Amino acid sequence: MLDLRFHDAGSALSHKQFDHVVAIDGPSGAGKSTMTSALANELGLLYIDTGAMYRALAYYFDKTNLAIEESPELLANLKNLNFIYGKDEHCLIELNGEDLTEKIRENQISILASKVSRLPSVREYLLDYQRSLVAKNICVVEGRDIGTVVFPNAFCKIFLTASPEVRAKRRLEQLQKGGQDNVDLDGILEEVIQRDKRDQEREISPLKKATDAIEVNTDQMTSDQAIKKLAELVSEAAKKANIEL
Ligand code: DC
Repeated sequence: MLDLRFHDAGSALSHKQFDHVVAIDGPSGAGKSTMTSALANELGLLYIDTGAMYRALAYYFDKTNLAIEESPELLANLKNLNFIYGKDEHCLIELNGEDLTEKIRENQISILASKVSRLPSVREYLLDYQRSLVAKNICVVEGRDIGTVVFPNAFCKIFLTASPEVRAKRRLEQLQKGGQDNVDLDGILEEVIQRDKRDQEREISPLKKATDAIEVNTDQMTSDQAIKKLAELVSEAAKKANIEL
């Protein structure tokens, strides 16, 4: 991950017709985080994981016992948050002085994040924050609504997907590697299906492929093959948009 503090805030980007953003959207567990961060690294671009931001807010709801609904209390809480993405090499996300880099990866936070992300004021808060981050840098931004809502003029849009079964299997392996043994494939598959449903059916900014996005299905690809494919797509799009990477 690149450190935001070391980016040149003064380097105005010259091409106006495109947002200088590679938008990578897709369902949970399609390998977005791993592949997007590797891609950004390879191309030397800033990586922004918007899911981590929804997860951080989910953690905050949980910790403060804030009800998952619109309320004056929620607005007051959002207004007073001290939210820092990409603080340094070790800290991906800090909220009110607490480093949440590891905590947001727990399974119950995944489920909660999908519920919290339905709230309009949460989405609005993060939309503003995400746009403020990319104002001066070429970025690779991953999420659900990046190509459709957050950066509709992104020069490159990719919809990264995989079947629910493959995604559940990858998630199980990831959790087991992280030392969580009390999980089974059927349970994870059910969670994947429910999360897709919530993400696709919510009213605001649902998960959907932008009409001008290129779909990449990673079912039959290794991580390296997928990253190579993504890098090719980004280079082609940059050439077409006359953007120097
Ligand atoms: O990509 P992820 O699994 O870390 O995302 C966590 C949750 O946040 C997921 O349920 C969908 C939601 N999300 C969203 O609604 N919009 C985004 N741009 C990114 C994530």
